[in-house]
Amino acid sequence: MLRVQPVKRIEGTVRVPGDKSISHRAVMFGALAEGTTTIEGFLPGADCLSTIDCFRRMGVKIEQAGDRVTVYGKGWYGLEEPSQHLDVGNSGTTIRLMAGILATQPFHAVMEGDESIAKRPMRRVIGPLRQMGAKIDGRKDGEYTPLSIRGGGLQGISYQSPVASAQVKSAILLAGLQAKGVTSVTEPQLSRDHTERMLQAFGVKVVRDGLTVSVEGGQTLTGRAIRVPGDISSAAFLIAAVMMVPGSSLLIENVGVNPSRTGIIDVVRAMGGRIELQNERIVNEEPVADLLVTHSELRGIEIGGEIIPRLIDEIPVIAVMATRANGRTVIRDAEELRVKETDRIATVASQLSKFGASVTPTPDGLIVEGATQLTGAAIDSMGDHRIGMAMAIAGLAAEGETVIANDAAINVSFPGFADLLARISIR
Ligand code: S3P
Repeated sequence: MLRVQPVKRIEGTVRVPGDKSISHRAVMFGALAEGTTTIEGFLPGADCLSTIDCFRRMGVKIEQAGDRVTVYGKGWYGLEEPSQHLDVGNSGTTIRLMAGILATQPFHAVMEGDESIAKRPMRRVIGPLRQMGAKIDGRKDGEYTPLSIRGGGLQGISYQSPVASAQVKSAILLAGLQAKGVTSVTEPQLSRDHTERMLQAFGVKVVRDGLTVSVEGGQTLTGRAIRVPGDISSAAFLIAAVMMVPGSSLLIENVGVNPSRTGIIDVVRAMGGRIELQNERIVNEEPVADLLVTHSELRGIEIGGEIIPRLIDEIPVIAVMATRANGRTVIRDAEELRVKETDRIATVASQLSKFGASVTPTPDGLIVEGATQLTGAAIDSMGDHRIGMAMAIAGLAAEGETVIANDAAINVSFPGFADLLARISIR
């Protein structure tokens, strides 16, 4: 149980844990590379630890202590057939990107995860990987886990993805690296491009033409040092905390500000919030900055279209901020939320309304009427890290105590969240 009390204001200078997407990729690419990869700023959250565990089960030596990791790469075909099922835990990124990697391997492997993973759609990656020649099966013709994969002998494809999903794009590109000929993926909108950037950092040639990315088969990766910036998706909860409580300000140092991830900054600014980027720099092909966040009164806005993939994981906490904004906030084109760790349209609506907020779920989003004074409530994270954290932020500005059940889920992406929040809370 996480207990959250209202605060007078939020104040301080902080860092957030490493970026989840980049941490997963650093381990995966390090394992497939020739030579050693060292990772600094790794996110030691449950999801990324699942990725490490999967590669260890395929014979890759990986040392991890806190946010430092050393991966002793064995080359693309150095992986060994696992003797047991690979357990991805709660991690969609692990299972979908690994599907692309396993599709290239000349052995059999089975992947499974927790209850939430068992409900998430897999055919979006299995379909194109089958087209490339991989033999993959799962419940409901490959839609659901466990996934059984026998890879090898792939042929490059040109794939038009119906969804803007970095997991789909990445799985196909990874398989494409060991397929015959060229593999290209075109997406309807740009999803996060960490795979493309990091593959280049590992010495792979990646070609981008608008919304199409291509790789040629038969390329090798070379191990290197990777520094992982702080996760803007974790920083988003702290940005929201500042916006919830008048008089607050916070400096969040070392945050990844890749343009494919900064929709949250655009939205907070459009709502009237103040975020200043300081000390902008590039670290391993990724833009990084310190964020100076200052409270201001918010107004409701409309959010939809191409910005959605750039803030998809931040929508739960945007809905929380919208309860404090004057007027109506409409979020649309976000049906992908229905297939995240939980159905986040349903869980945001059910949990946020317990605070007395006016939240209406729609098929592809949410409508929030503000501003409402929230009242502390008994919340359930429903096993979804981002729901747990978003509701904790709501609790900071509520009257009375908020209690969050199943708060352990928060460790999936933000270990130390409650302690960090306590450190910046002025009571
Ligand atoms: C991720 C991609 C996104 C995102 C997830 C992490 C990644 O999912 O929601 O938290 O690391 O590639 P989709 O690819 O399903 O949109």
